[in-house]
Amino acid sequence: MVQAPLQPNRASGQRGLHLPGNGTPRTLHIRVLQSPLAGVSDRIFRALVRRWAPEALLFTEMVNATSLELGHATHKVAELAHEVGPIGVQLFDQRPTAMADAARRAEAAGAYLIDINMGCPVRKIARKGGGSGLINNPELAARIVETVAAAVQIPVTVKTRLGWCDGSEAISWCRRLEAAGAQLLTLHGRTREQGFKGRADWGAIAAVKRALAIPVIANGDINTPADALACFEATGADGVMVGRGTMGAPWLVGQIAAVLAGQPVVATPGAAERLALAAEQLQALVMARGDHGLLIARKHMGWLCTGFAGAPQLRHDLMRAPTPAEALALLAGAAEGLVQGITAGQPRRISSSEK
Ligand SMILES: Cc1cc2nc3c(=O)[nH]c(=O)nc-3n(C[C@H](O)[C@H](O)[C@H](O)COP(=O)(O)O)c2cc1C
Repeated sequence: MVQAPLQPNRASGQRGLHLPGNGTPRTLHIRVLQSPLAGVSDRIFRALVRRWAPEALLFTEMVNATSLELGHATHKVAELAHEVGPIGVQLFDQRPTAMADAARRAEAAGAYLIDINMGCPVRKIARKGGGSGLINNPELAARIVETVAAAVQIPVTVKTRLGWCDGSEAISWCRRLEAAGAQLLTLHGRTREQGFKGRADWGAIAAVKRALAIPVIANGDINTPADALACFEATGADGVMVGRGTMGAPWLVGQIAAVLAGQPVVATPGAAERLALAAEQLQALVMARGDHGLLIARKHMGWLCTGFAGAPQLRHDLMRAPTPAEALALLAGAAEGLVQGITAGQPRRISSSEK
């Protein structure tokens, strides 16, 4: 355990965020949220995040409402039964009735709240009118929020961006979502056109926060506890959401939660722990998804296996390991190499090319 050299700011010591719902209220006790990450934030990843942040609100990967209707991707809702902490189910679609049906299913399966995706920039989705496509159709967006909010008792929230190609309408867009019944808004401080480029505009998030009565969660470019504190300071937001910074760092949400609570922060895991986590995640994915689990595990192993001597070669070999057993053997070999290096008294400093 190390004490963070950071001072919790105004965000710490605040009471939980109360969301009235439509009969089933919810309270968020932790003001850092794990973002929905398609292809990443599956239940196995979420279980790792909860190891460091048991009470934080996490989200499913985005789930398409029409696919659910057709009987696809149903495991993403069914597996909520295994969730041991608050879980938001994120839905996307351009059809209000499909969204309402999907929301009812998610509520019945144990969702803590329903989040509507109005920010996904993927062309195939936006062109059909879902995700960020709804920014261009505020009337339909409002109808979706109203329909979903009327269909469930739990709170309905929206995650969106500043705008389509510029952020000049961000305040009116977000006010519209609030008026339609969104009880919390997560705002990624970029436009759809920016995708993930440039810096997230925390100033624009601050302006929306000042204009809305519902809680606003700031999102974009928060990769460390210090970033989280800076974002609270810059935006006055009610909470922060972290995305890419958690990829290969399932401890980050917990570290930020600790800083906000003024508690000691668990040290970032070193090489041995990262290798053990990579092996654990691989085994869990293969158990859950069979051979396909290895393909999913590759990216997680690549993100986790950084920051120690020999890591680049290990990642290279892991990406090419044809079976889970061979990948596990590589991880075990690397762990053994660490032990030998340390017992021989020769842990090497790593050069930047070795990260
Ligand atoms: C691989 C990947 C998958 C994502 N999947 C989703 C998703 O399913 N739903 C969503 O609302 N946002 C999704 N996002 C966007 C993130 O949740 C987040 O808004 C964005 O990355 C900005 O936050 P960050 O700077 O902390 O990463 C995804 C981003 C990435 C990189």
